[in-house]
Parts: sequence; structure tokens; C-alpha cells
Amino acid sequence: MPRLFTALEIPFEIGQSLALLRGGLPGARWVAPENYHLTLRFIGDIDDTLAEEIAHLLGKIERSAFNLRIDGLDSFGGNKPRAVVAAVRAVAELVELQAEHERIMQRVGLQPERKYKPHVTLARLRDTSSRQVADFLSTRQPFRSSSFPVSRFVLYSSRASVGGAPYVIEAEYPLAA
Ligand code: 2AM
Repeated sequence: MPRLFTALEIPFEIGQSLALLRGGLPGARWVAPENYHLTLRFIGDIDDTLAEEIAHLLGKIERSAFNLRIDGLDSFGGNKPRAVVAAVRAVAELVELQAEHERIMQRVGLQPERKYKPHVTLARLRDTSSRQVADFLSTRQPFRSSSFPVSRFVLYSSRASVGGAPYVIEAEYPLAA
């Protein structure tokens, strides 16, 4: 079974505005805009039976659509930076949806995840200094996207080793209008 995770998609126009932030950071490998996503819960490599059980439980979630916006830029990894990310505002609906995914994953026996920090990864870094990241962030901040609707979440599989789009939608789950 491929590597799985649940996520929200990033609308095309929001992805375009994020893509304008790219460039000007040594050691950065920029994520292609069509691959931007907001991970809700990383699942990992699991067998088909468990994947089907998870897909089934995700389908029982009954939640309403909501709006999100990207609000700020950040880096992960402290003084050994490993990613530049767009921070996503943690509105209650997002936090509750993510918590429900977390409960499902623990119910089926997965290990608890660390504290959830909603973000869209923009670049993965190699040999980039924290000084370079700070300079980059200072030239791009403040960044705030327009608000966008979230009307479904998806179960992605990841084929990181394959060329082209590495993420495939395996199942999609609408949120009530
Ligand atoms: P990231 O963007 O912050 O790297 C698919 O790999 C998605 O799952 C990525 O968005 C990644 O987050 C997230 N993810 C969370 N934990 C992960 C892990 N242990 N290994 C790989 N990806 C992980």
C-alpha cells in the first residue's frame, strides 16, 4: 500500500499567490504549485485492510464547510532549517476536523501525532542557514492570502519516488454546504 495522508486542497488562485513567493533562497527545493496541500493527518505506509477501514471511518465524518486563509510565513527546524511554510490560520472548524482525524487514527491503532501546526510546505531546504531563511522571510512578509472555501477533504497517496505529480487522490469527502 502506498504512503497515505489526509489533507485539504489549496485552490488554484491561492496556489498562484503562494508560488509568487518562490525564489531567492539558496538550497531551497520549491514545491510545485499543483502539489501544494494542507496536511491534516499523516498516516504513512499501511496495509490495504487498514487503509479500507480508515477510508470507511473518514466517510462517517459529518462536518460543515468553512473558510480558511493563509496568514504568515514561517520556517521549521529552528537553527537547522528544513522547510519554509505558509502558516494557515487555525480556525475552530479546522482544529476540530483535524482532531477528528487524529481520533480515528488512534482508534485504528496508529501512534499519536505531535502537536498539529497547520501549514502548507513551500520549500524543503538543504544546507540553508537560519540567517538566509530569516532574510528570505523578511523580504516576503507580511503575507496573507484571501479567504478561501474548504468544501471537502481528501485521502492522498504519495509516490514521492515517482516523477511528475507525487500525490494521488484516493478518496474525497465532502463537507456539508
Ligand atoms: P510536510 O509538508 O510538512 O513535509 C506527505 O508526505 C505530507 O505528509 C507532507 O505534507 C508532510 O508534511 C506530511 N507529513 C507529516 N509527517 C510526515 C512524516 N513523518 N513523513 C512524511 N510526511 C509527513
